[in-house]
Amino acid sequence: MKFAFAKPSLPKSGTVAVTVANERTLGAAGQDLDQKTGGALTRAMKASRFTGKKEETLAILAPAGVELDRILLVGLGKPEEVGDAALQAAGGALVAALDKSGESEVSVLLDLPAGAGVVPADAAAELAFGGRLRSYKFDKYRTTEKKDAKPSLKRVNVLTADADAAKRAYGRLEGLADSVAFTRDLVSEPANVLHPESLAERCKDLAEVGVEVEVLDLKKLKKLGMGALIGVAQGSAYEPRVVVMRWNGAPDAEDRRPVAFIGKGVTFDTGGISIKPAAGMEDMKWDMGGAAVVIGTMRALAARKAKVNAVGIVGLVENMPSGTAQRPGDVVTSMSGQTIEVINTDAEGRLVLADCLWYAQESFKPRLMVDLATLTGAVIIALGHEHAGLFATDDALADGLLAAGTAVGEPLWRLPMGDAYDKDINSDIADMKNVGSGRGAGSIIGAQFLKRFVNDVPWAHIDIAGVAWSKKDSATVPKGGTGFGVRLLDRFVADHHEG
Ligand code: BES
Ligand code: MN
Ligand code: ZN
Repeated sequence: MKFAFAKPSLPKSGTVAVTVANERTLGAAGQDLDQKTGGALTRAMKASRFTGKKEETLAILAPAGVELDRILLVGLGKPEEVGDAALQAAGGALVAALDKSGESEVSVLLDLPAGAGVVPADAAAELAFGGRLRSYKFDKYRTTEKKDAKPSLKRVNVLTADADAAKRAYGRLEGLADSVAFTRDLVSEPANVLHPESLAERCKDLAEVGVEVEVLDLKKLKKLGMGALIGVAQGSAYEPRVVVMRWNGAPDAEDRRPVAFIGKGVTFDTGGISIKPAAGMEDMKWDMGGAAVVIGTMRALAARKAKVNAVGIVGLVENMPSGTAQRPGDVVTSMSGQTIEVINTDAEGRLVLADCLWYAQESFKPRLMVDLATLTGAVIIALGHEHAGLFATDDALADGLLAAGTAVGEPLWRLPMGDAYDKDINSDIADMKNVGSGRGAGSIIGAQFLKRFVNDVPWAHIDIAGVAWSKKDSATVPKGGTGFGVRLLDRFVADHHEG
């Protein structure tokens, strides 16, 4: 789908979309269209439940008085709440409505209500950005889709006075949208196609935008002493990989220490010998969601040439049961030297991250570390699919991440940590065990385990198990892999670690 910008002028044919503020409030362009059509817009709104709320749409077909095939009304919500989120939602809603309609092109009249706190050109770009995010599809494996079931929309023209400025603003957002799509592609890909070795290959695509990519193979991981990560991988026919991605956007900065993002990349999690039940196990193809977000974030930072030094590290393994798989009760030695009794082979993400966190900290001396992982089912019990769980050793870091999440509509909720939880992972025969002794506080226990592999550097852990995949469409996120975290981390870097 292509998004373009042009100066306002009413098209003679085809479909026109026009934004409407709440309480059925038409702006200048809407009023003009209403007049030309003998009041068709006002009557259609009265005859329906459309009131201009966020994400609402109403199609008026073949209106009299104009040659248009269709006028689509798109709600913006309350004027005082019209900001980036509402505009993105409007873009997403109009793409979703028209993609099913058979229409291939639309011109959007952006009527901003008085009192909306946005620059019109930026508003146009945000609307297009929302449309672009919503238009994402993962359909490479469909070979028999009927023509009339295929999405139809090919082109969206957003009409705005300063079309050049809108185009520039969209240019910046497009790189971010591409990166979110890159992440969603990785998350959606099945595990027979995306395994540790092929995922490492895909990381190399980031060289195109200027990211340095280094792939560490099994021999190197053994040499580094990553016994915890290797233990998880040893039941799989695929070798593990760790990929290091570097973006050096601030080579002359006073503080050259990078921000470090670390991702759990379990390309399939059967549970291993502590095998999972069959129902829903297919979901475990997206157990590499944390790694996908780290890869997408590195891509996004490079695409907009962010003035920051950043390193992304992903631990890629497949957790399989087999004759070579690790057993419950095995003791492994992590790169840090600490030993771990593997009580449950299904608590594998923390074993992978333990070595990646240690490696990130020792090799890159980062200013901060943020890891992302589909770590625990328990975080879904706690927060459902609306918030990701945030854990942190540093309040300023936590606050920065919370604020960025709110700003981009990828909200986090901070959960507590503490020594009393930490005690629960002491082992009788090793330095620690990989699960707690009871069933309580599973997500916190996971975070406490990771914390044992972090020294003084400010660190945060984001458990995205509830948000990496969505079973229903929302304004800017079609169902499937969400890419939750890419926009958040991009914003976090922009607001706190650039310039
Ligand atoms: N990948 C899972 C967590 C998960 C569950 C992600 C559901 C997404 C949806 C993780 O490796 C896991 O199996 N965690 C266990 C930990 C337990 C054994 C302590 C869990 O959550 O049950
Ligand atoms: Mn598991
Ligand atoms: Zn897992």
